[in-house]
Amino acid sequence: MGDQNTTFSAVILAAGQGTRMKSATPKSLHPVLGWPMVAYVIEAAKEAGCSKVVVVEGPGSPISAALGEDHDFVSVVQHEAKGTGDAVHVALDATEGTDAVVILNGDMPCIESDEVAALLDLFESGGMVFGSGRVEDPTGYGRVVRSDSGAVSAIREHRDCSDSELAINEVNLGIYAADRALLVDYLPRLGTNNDQGELYLTDLVSMSHGDGRKVETLCFEDWSNLRGVNDRVQLAEADAALTQRVLENLMREGVSVVDPARTRVEACVQIGRDTVLEPEVSLRGNTRIGEGCHIGQGSVITESKLGNNVTLHPYCVVEQGTFEEGVQAGPFARIRPGSVLRKGSKVGNFVEMKKTDLGPGSKANHLTYLGDSTIGEGVNVGAGTITCNYDGKNKFQTVLKDGVFIGSDVQLVAPVTVGEGAYVGAGTTVTEDVPDGALATSRTEQKNNEGWVARKKARQAKEDS
Ligand code: UD1
Ligand code: CA
Repeated sequence: MGDQNTTFSAVILAAGQGTRMKSATPKSLHPVLGWPMVAYVIEAAKEAGCSKVVVVEGPGSPISAALGEDHDFVSVVQHEAKGTGDAVHVALDATEGTDAVVILNGDMPCIESDEVAALLDLFESGGMVFGSGRVEDPTGYGRVVRSDSGAVSAIREHRDCSDSELAINEVNLGIYAADRALLVDYLPRLGTNNDQGELYLTDLVSMSHGDGRKVETLCFEDWSNLRGVNDRVQLAEADAALTQRVLENLMREGVSVVDPARTRVEACVQIGRDTVLEPEVSLRGNTRIGEGCHIGQGSVITESKLGNNVTLHPYCVVEQGTFEEGVQAGPFARIRPGSVLRKGSKVGNFVEMKKTDLGPGSKANHLTYLGDSTIGEGVNVGAGTITCNYDGKNKFQTVLKDGVFIGSDVQLVAPVTVGEGAYVGAGTTVTEDVPDGALATSRTEQKNNEGWVARKKARQAKEDS
């Protein structure tokens, strides 16, 4: 059992090239369910009680650039990927002040803090422990080599295995805890006598064994969470596994997911109870959804906040929107960044909004574009209304005061203000402010030319004969 007083830091290895991803992006930055893979590993280490997290990254510090703000870690750069042993070596100074170091491969996005905590529990001062698991096809993994007594004597990388070692199906999973003093002693002495000519972290095991130190293994019965992602097939598998975990947690907390196999909710989304997600819903980024909401089929919501009892009919696309309680939208509504839909307001089909504040109880039910607008309470925006907010160079504001009624097919040429309670007749092009309580119309007078159709037909018949 681990000593209660042992302090742990974590070193996360993420400087490898990730060749098998065939990508310009470093492997551990590839997103799984909305977060870069390495972010899950950082959070698991923190949650398990590591007081400090050190991430080893490649030149240019791409990981710090991508996650620096959102996750708490120290970055160390490994200038050349000379192997996992070298990666830990360059991080060693940053772990000073802690007794022991947890080492985690940065390509295990499904890892949970429980798994790291189990490793800490098993760790004993002065020693080393690592996670192992059994697998039918161990190709590519380091094999756990044991002596006749059953003690671990080495981890042998696949490419360095003898025929008999290749048959070993207990493999190294890439999670370790080691006494810091042991690392200080052994890491500078690692050699490159292996098929890849790299400095292997895994050689610490044979070094320890040779010095008569005991190396413990934490043998995982089920290690599906610890599977490394090396290519894009495994990336998709990890995404599917995490999606399932997130949806199960939500369902246990009182969210209905009609068809979990066809629903995607990213890791940091929060949803209140009695909310229903229909099939093909995708919820992304830092989205918060209240209680009792109904999210219709095919809706995609990104970085948005929805209050309680909001209804989205099918196929709404919402980005950086704020919906207050009881709002209804869609089907086929597009809400672009900076839009606020106040309590009980309603937007219908084929309505696009951008940087628009729609007041309490106001409605825009059909075929409308509202951009750069401030709309008061109880306003009715008729079908086909367009705010003409852009002159090709600058954007301008439209203001509709409380109680305004806009008829169908109206153009509001901004900047323009329609005063409280005013009406705008159908088909009007509003180019000047409308005073409170006025009716604005800009239609030309209608003329009915009686009998015109019959006369036209007669003319046509004469020409054809
Ligand atoms: C490693 C283990 C292997 C184990 C497997 C589990 C070694 C030598 N081998 O092999 O025993 O079965 O993980 O998945 O450790 N990295 C660096 N700097 C480097 C090289 C790698 O930071 O110079 C990082 C990578 O970004 C990656 C991690 O270390 O996150 C593991 O490297 P990878 O190349 O994936 O090791 P494997 O060959 O999978
Ligand atoms: Ca790997």
